[in-house]
Amino acid sequence: MESVLSKIERLKNEKDAVILAHYYVNDDIQAIADYVGDSYYLSKVAVEVPQKVIAFCGVTFMGESAKILNPGKTVIMPEAGADCPMAHMASIEKIKDVREKQYDLAVVCYINSTAEIKKYVDVCVTSSNALKIIKALPQKNIYFVPDENLGRYVASMIPEKNFIFNDGFCHVHDEIMIDEVEEAKAAHPKAKVLVHPECTMGVIASADYVGSTSGIIDYATDSDAEEFIIGTEIGILYQLKKKNPTKKFYTVNSAQVCPNMKKITLEKVAFALDRMINQVEIDEETRIKAVLSLEKMLELSK
Ligand code: 13P
Ligand code: SF4
Repeated sequence: MESVLSKIERLKNEKDAVILAHYYVNDDIQAIADYVGDSYYLSKVAVEVPQKVIAFCGVTFMGESAKILNPGKTVIMPEAGADCPMAHMASIEKIKDVREKQYDLAVVCYINSTAEIKKYVDVCVTSSNALKIIKALPQKNIYFVPDENLGRYVASMIPEKNFIFNDGFCHVHDEIMIDEVEEAKAAHPKAKVLVHPECTMGVIASADYVGSTSGIIDYATDSDAEEFIIGTEIGILYQLKKKNPTKKFYTVNSAQVCPNMKKITLEKVAFALDRMINQVEIDEETRIKAVLSLEKMLELSK
């Protein structure tokens, strides 16, 4: 009987497909993916790959962004139910309201948001390019949606701008507690603390490095330190250990798991490619509005 791995390989050739995977998906998916990366890298790769079909091993907003940027390609999600709760934590009414009340305003949207929200914003950012993009915006006032923690971190780094925050959050990062970080530091006093900016400001203040998933991997790989406490989702450990087989990595707590990313399995990748199911569909009215904020992100982060 054909193994799931050879089935995926065969289907990739038959369907002219490429597999993109985020660092938070299961190890076996990262191992077979053609490209693995953070949200920004994957959105760039989606534009550059020559294949007609993208199998996106990530959550809904990632597949939607790939489709918005590439309407001519078929984007399939191996698990249709893999969605990021934070992507739904911004309100169009609130955006309209803030726009009415605030002059000299840019609405800046974390890419972890629905296609519908992206229609109403000025520019998208990811955790790896938010600082660069917001610094470059001419507007003084920034309404940052949906993630409050990332918004507050970016605001702390760009004091010359005035920020308005939204109350969205990522449950995985928001639940990393400062006392747990202190306990981990006490248990591993030589370890550097590397955290994602979706963590709370208290956790961020206790860290040696704050950055996107790619930033965390690069920091650990380039560092002379041998031990690291990792304040983000555990899927990142696969690449951290692969790139740094002699270094030690510890999580802060045992709940650093994104259940949606973990829904994707090899069997689901094979099944989706075979049947070409779970194709991302974006209506053209939404796409032509939402694409502006994503294209602006790609332009401003060059
Ligand atoms: P990165 O862009 O840093 O990979 O983060 C994506 C994400 O979903 C974080 O929770
Ligand atoms: Fe969303 Fe958090 Fe999962 Fe990232 S880790 S996809 S922000 S729920």
